[in-house]
Amino acid sequence: MNENLKQQFMNKILEKIKTCMECSLCEGRCKPVLGEGNLNSELVFIGEAPGRKEDEVGRPFVGSAGQLLDRLLFGIGLSRKAVYISNVVKCRPPDNRRPTIEEMEACTPFLEEQLEIIKPKIIVAMGNSAISFFSKKFGFKVIGMWRIHGKIFQVEAPWGKVILFATFHPAAALYNKDLEKILEDDFKKLSTLLKS
Ligand code: URA
Repeated sequence: MNENLKQQFMNKILEKIKTCMECSLCEGRCKPVLGEGNLNSELVFIGEAPGRKEDEVGRPFVGSAGQLLDRLLFGIGLSRKAVYISNVVKCRPPDNRRPTIEEMEACTPFLEEQLEIIKPKIIVAMGNSAISFFSKKFGFKVIGMWRIHGKIFQVEAPWGKVILFATFHPAAALYNKDLEKILEDDFKKLSTLLKS
């Protein structure tokens, strides 16, 4: 599928989300955040849900967590234009709380459609919401981010073999230099994986 066609399919998903009322997050939504980046990328990053800034502008990771994500990408020679970035949930939860299981279940069919379009080889699950969605989807057990970060899970997606890479959410490292260092180390492992 060429990039134009992929973009058309993505636009259709966005149109559906704009009128989606499958969960109560639609009530506070300003702009839904579908995702952005290279639709031909083999590498996809999945966060949790839009925050205030993302909800204002309709783009993923444009606030302070996004700035850290940009730095982490830059550190391994990537830019956000080279990869695709999205979230488990497309509308902002009030007060930036974690999305509930019901909200995630209502919203993740959109993410599944997106992944079917991109067909990535590597998915980076950033934080607990993302890893809990993917562990349920692919049927493996998660034993806490501290035990699994920097590790890979080989899974079978409808479009072929996929490597799932788990790491912390950048927002968790914003005021924690130790965690930022751990994220940097995880991104270095990711870079090694990309080169292998
Ligand atoms: N946090 C997320 O999980 N996603 C965003 O898009 C922004 C902050």
